[in-house]
Formats: sequence, structure tokens, C-alpha cells
Amino acid sequence: MQKIDVQSKHGKYPILIEEGIFKQAGNWIRRWMPSSQLAIITDTNVGELYLEQLQADLKQAGLGFVDAFIIKAGEESKNLQTIETIYHWLLEKGHDRSSGIIALGGGVVGDMSGFVASTFMRGIPFVQVPTSLLAQVDSSVGGKVGVNVREGKNLIGSFYAPKGVIIDPSVLMSLPMRQFRNGIAEVVKTGAILDANLLKQVALLRDEAELRPAWGKVIARCCELKAMVVSQDEEEHGLRKILNFGHSFGHGIEQYTEYKKYAHGEAVAIGMILAAQIGQELGITESGVEEELTALLTQFHLPVQSIPIPTEEWLAAMKKDKKKSRGLLHLVAVKAMGQAVVRPVKYGIIEDFLKGVAE
Ligand SMILES: NC(=O)c1ccc[n+]([C@@H]2O[C@H](COP(=O)([O-])OP(=O)(O)OC[C@H]3O[C@@H](n4cnc5c(N)ncnc54)[C@H](O)[C@@H]3O)[C@@H](O)[C@H]2O)c1
Ligand SMILES: [Zn+2]
Repeated sequence: MQKIDVQSKHGKYPILIEEGIFKQAGNWIRRWMPSSQLAIITDTNVGELYLEQLQADLKQAGLGFVDAFIIKAGEESKNLQTIETIYHWLLEKGHDRSSGIIALGGGVVGDMSGFVASTFMRGIPFVQVPTSLLAQVDSSVGGKVGVNVREGKNLIGSFYAPKGVIIDPSVLMSLPMRQFRNGIAEVVKTGAILDANLLKQVALLRDEAELRPAWGKVIARCCELKAMVVSQDEEEHGLRKILNFGHSFGHGIEQYTEYKKYAHGEAVAIGMILAAQIGQELGITESGVEEELTALLTQFHLPVQSIPIPTEEWLAAMKKDKKKSRGLLHLVAVKAMGQAVVRPVKYGIIEDFLKGVAE
């Protein structure tokens, strides 16, 4: 088993990674949330596959029957309405300050469960059991939790560390291929900003069939890198911004297409290419980076070409993005593969660039 510690202002929490660890999840959860009445939050797809098994594990660990709330799978559920429904359900079930929450699912379930945990009774403990590749390599680590509102993505939320994260790569066997590729986009992001070797390793895997068995190591490396960043800058005052590489553009695309056309990682894939293009235009990014990223993303059938989006729409979405301040956008760029920089860029420059993309 691989154990990676993450430092947060409320203390350290572990990420445990091992094939088959899902079957022992109950023991770990009991250790981390001992006297709690527990509630699992999951979605329709993951619930059908893994809920009974987790409930059985918990029972075996002496935790008895655990309530479960099942949300409709998909980004459209990640809103305040669902959160409110969960609050009422928890109260009806008699949950209180001594309760604990288990997030069983992808990034949508993880972000929402964490937000519920951070606000219910002013904060109750929670554990992440991420089941999508994206959640295992990225969203379950670092304590960013929240929901989307009409005005934009993840605009409501908090920083709230889990008690622990349990990652079992074997649950990825049931993940649909499109979702698997969606997670690869965040792996490519992690490599592009922090570790060129990780990208080399991933590039050697010719197709996804080769990739699945090799996944444990890649997941562990991504967690290690993200843990290093968020342990130094939990609340994104500086270094953590680099994790947003491709995300300002990606969020604009997701919002414009109303979260329907692209999965998060797919929008981020296009966003990374746009960030590389503007980076190269501004002389921040070495030439060749865009080409290398395009080749890698294409290898995993991820989109790299933006659909035409009217510049005003794009700017409207980006202006609401958390990554801006005082008329400047913090552009996360890759200088060379594995090396990220954050540069303030004037909106006018972004606007001119986006006009070119819209044509
Ligand atoms: N908090 C963070 O730091 C952070 C970082 C990156 C992304 N995110 C957020 O994560 C979300 C995207 O996460 P996601 O891609 O996991 O989406 P998701 O949670 O919607 O999961 C994708 C799909 O895969 C299904 N699924 C998950 N695990 C499965 C399994 N083992 N077998 C079969 N099906 C399975 C889900 O039901 C869903 O249909 C976005 O909302 C994004 O904003 C958050
Ligand atoms: Zn992301």
C-alpha cells in the first residue's frame, strides 16, 4: 500500500492507494470517523456498482447500517438545489454534529459531499472514496469542495480537508472509456506543470488497454505531486494556482456549452492547448509545447480544438472565474514541459487572442 500525507491547516490526512483496498474501506473509515453515525453520498451509476459492497464492508467493520443518499449522476446535479435536498435528508435521518460523511463516486460526488460536510452543523468529518480516474488523480486531493451556480463553475465552496482518501485503482475497471480519458486530461495537466517524466511514462502507453494495469503508479505519482503543492499552499495564495493550467479556458467552454457537450477533462484538454498557444504567442511558453501536448491528448482521443465561442460569451465566463483580479487574468502557462509559471495578463490581450480562436 502506498501512503501519501497531505498537510492541511487542520492537520495531516492520508491518501491510501492500493489495488483491492476498497474491500477494507470499513476498517479505515472506522479508524478515521470512530463514533460517527455515517451517511454515504453517491450517484446513480456508482451506487449501483459499489454501494452494497461498501455498506457490507462498513458493517463488517462494526459500523452497522449506514444511510445512503443517491444523486443523479452528472455535472448537472452539482448545484445548491441538490445540496439543500441532502441537508434535509440528513436532518430527517437524525444526523447531527457527531455524524460523518463518506463520498463514494467521482469528482461531482466528492465536491458536493465535501461541501455538505463543511457546512452541515458547521462542519462534520468526511472521507473520500474516489471512483473515477479524475477523482483519484485530482479532485479527491486538496480539500477544494463546492458547487456550480448559474453564473459559473465552482463559484460557491470552501476549503475543507477530508479525514482520509481511499483509492482503489481496481474500481476503474468499470469506468466507461470516455470517463477514463476524461481523467487522463488531468494527468496530462499534472505532468505538464510539474513532471515531464510522468508525461513520458504516459506517452509510452499506446492505448488505454495498456494503461489500465499501469494505472496504480500513475495515480500515486499524481497524488504525490498534488499533495506537495496543496501542502505548501492549501488555500491558493500562490503555488496552487498552477493546478489551474488550462482551466480558465476550460471553464469558459464548459459554461458556454452548459456542462453538456464536454466532460470537465475534455474542456480542460482544449483549455490546455489554448493556454499553450497564448503562452507561445506571448513568448512565455517554449515552442514545441503545444505540439507535444496535442500529440499526447490526441493519443488518448481527447479533444484539442475549440468550438467557436463568441468572444463576449467567453470573456463573460472568464471574468467570473475565480482566477482573475483587478482587470488582470492570472494566466497559468507552461514554460517548458513540467515547469509552470503564473503571469498576470491584461484582459485586452486575452480578448484579442480569443477573437482569433472564435474565427
Ligand atoms: N475539487 C477539486 O480539486 C477538483 C479538481 C478537478 C475536478 N473537480 C471537479 O470534478 C468534477 C468531475 O469529476 P468526474 O470526472 O469524476 O465526474 P463525475 O463525478 O460526474 O463522474 C463521471 C462519470 O463516471 C461515473 N463513474 C464514476 N466512477 C465510476 C466507476 N468506478 N465505474 C463506473 N462509473 C463511474 C459517474 O457516475 C459519472 O457518470 C467536476 O465537477 C470538476 O469541477 C474538482
Ligand atoms: Zn480540473
